[in-house]
Amino acid sequence: MRDVTEATATEAVVGKLAGCENARLKQVMTSFVRHLHAFVREIEPTQAEWFTAIKFLTDTGHMCDDKRQEFILLSDTLGVSTLVELINNRKSPGMTETSVLGPFWVEGAPHLPLGASIVKDGTAADLLVHGRVHDAEGRPIAAAVLDVWQTAPNGMYDVQDPNQPAMNLRGKFTTGSDGRFDFQTIMPTPYPIPHDGPVGALLTATGRHPWRPAHLHFIISAPGYRLLTTALYFEGDPYVDSDAVFGVKSDLVVRPSPRSDAAGSEVRYDFGLERAE
Ligand code: BEZ
Ligand code: FE
Repeated sequence: MRDVTEATATEAVVGKLAGCENARLKQVMTSFVRHLHAFVREIEPTQAEWFTAIKFLTDTGHMCDDKRQEFILLSDTLGVSTLVELINNRKSPGMTETSVLGPFWVEGAPHLPLGASIVKDGTAADLLVHGRVHDAEGRPIAAAVLDVWQTAPNGMYDVQDPNQPAMNLRGKFTTGSDGRFDFQTIMPTPYPIPHDGPVGALLTATGRHPWRPAHLHFIISAPGYRLLTTALYFEGDPYVDSDAVFGVKSDLVVRPSPRSDAAGSEVRYDFGLERAE
């Protein structure tokens, strides 16, 4: 292993993996080393630039704690979270697309009866969300659980905002035998992803904004079906075509309409779940 040159450096490292007994790890590390070296050969960083990159990763690690995961934000803003999600959720036609989970889902949202409101801070609910959960043949899926969460009008989730009651704008709803669900809420609001750390600095340095368009998050589960993590977005939102984390898919963009039976507006959306393998 003497006299490594520019020409031999990559194969020198790859050769070191010969003894790796875990075949998948060997495949992953071989590919990683090859791509990383190709990247370095392409950009030819100065030593100061390479140190800046290492400092960026160090700062990213230092920003993480049990509430903040800066590496996930990095993955989100580089489109890697969405790419991994797309690779792992290839859909049959007609089935609902997935979208990013984000860091604001929490365990233990209250189970609420169909038709209930998820607003807990006294604001009047003026948005009805309703629809059906169905299988690939369009048959209703009974007892599917929709776990829903969203931002308040100030653009914050309850867990970010000490002024909101716990579990504000969160709830779980179970479909009836007809696969239907409905609940009351308010319009979610666009919000910036946490951008006071190294990922935010990178967005600024590269001329990008940190905003996500307004959305309603859903995790939909039903026995025998693949878990669906998705979100609904809104036509006309200023960020619907420039989401900082690449979560928007056309089929997930809705346009609320005025309610025919009451004040406020409504969104109807039917979710198609894939059978579990
Ligand atoms: C969210 O939608 O909650 C989210 C997704 C990715 C990064 C930050 C927030
Ligand atoms: Fe969100």
